[in-house]
Amino acid sequence: MPGQQSATESPLAGDAIRADFRSDTVTRATPAMREAMAKAEVGDDVYGEDPTVNALQDRLAEMTRKEAGLYFPSGTQSNLAAVLSHCGRGDEYLIGRNSHVLLNEAGGTAALGGAVPWILEVDKTGAFTPEAVHLGVKEPDQHHPPTRLLCLENTCNGHVQTVDHLAACAAAAREHDLAVHLDGARLFNAANAEGVGIDCFAKHVDTVSLCLSKGLGAPIGTVLVGDRGSIDQAFRLRKMLGGGTRQVGHLAAAGMHALDHHVAGLADDHARAARIANGLAGVNELDVVLATNMLWITPADDHHDRLVDHLIAHGILACFWKPTMRFVTHLDIGDDAVDLLVSTVRDFYA
Ligand SMILES: Cc1ncc(COP(=O)(O)O)c(C=O)c1O
Repeated sequence: MPGQQSATESPLAGDAIRADFRSDTVTRATPAMREAMAKAEVGDDVYGEDPTVNALQDRLAEMTRKEAGLYFPSGTQSNLAAVLSHCGRGDEYLIGRNSHVLLNEAGGTAALGGAVPWILEVDKTGAFTPEAVHLGVKEPDQHHPPTRLLCLENTCNGHVQTVDHLAACAAAAREHDLAVHLDGARLFNAANAEGVGIDCFAKHVDTVSLCLSKGLGAPIGTVLVGDRGSIDQAFRLRKMLGGGTRQVGHLAAAGMHALDHHVAGLADDHARAARIANGLAGVNELDVVLATNMLWITPADDHHDRLVDHLIAHGILACFWKPTMRFVTHLDIGDDAVDLLVSTVRDFYA
């Protein structure tokens, strides 16, 4: 259905792709990860009998010091179940203007759960203020939807929300008895950049959605962690959303392998993104923004389309949005790919 395709669709295929910077979701399981998947002990997870899934859920619950974890096929489904575990139909949640739940999850919270988003304005790093949280909460009144939840995200388009900032926003929400959910699709990137454990962020919120299929390089999988009550609600919602799966331990094993072997490597992704930013510094007034494993460049209007054609002709993929394009480093981007990107952009402007 071409009309339904995303703007991130590749104009190249197969060997023509030399470096794919579109997202950290494009990684393919390594041979060692595939071996771990093949060897996984499995059972029926709808019956709660898959030992590998259970171990993964427990492991992430322990890492975040939460009571329980629940495996989901995707971050979208995990976020949806989390929001709906906190909000009933007609309830309101507060959320940043550019957040993934609001913009990139097909309006599921409203369409499937009747939860009403109230948008908080954000700065360039995707951050809103604690004051904005206070102002967003509605007075109890027959005219208003009851405000129940604050939704946070970290990282936000690569930008780290510090522990202190996140804690201040969550504290503002608590003053109004709101629940707090954190979309932590890339929380390991934030933790790595801040030099802290993911529990330092998780302790300020009720539920956290942790993706294994982004920088950590698993082909699939997200674990929602939280208090027992929220996870029990999410368990029922997961079933309703069609996310109850059977011998899924083969996939959870990829997540386990990622936690064992790929967490420390996020620092390499950040360093490679920084190398690209340094390599492009000062090139033809390119506006370069660096944020953990993401890099954003805004070429002059009249260069944009030609630069995109030039990159594609050299086998380089990125999110070629206009006016700002995005490059993401990940497990399948090595130093060669970094050098290729920098030299190809520099050649264009030479
Ligand atoms: C910040 C953020 N949250 C949630 C998701 C959703 O994850 P999934 O693609 O597994 O549904 C993504 C996906 O890229 C994301 O970037």
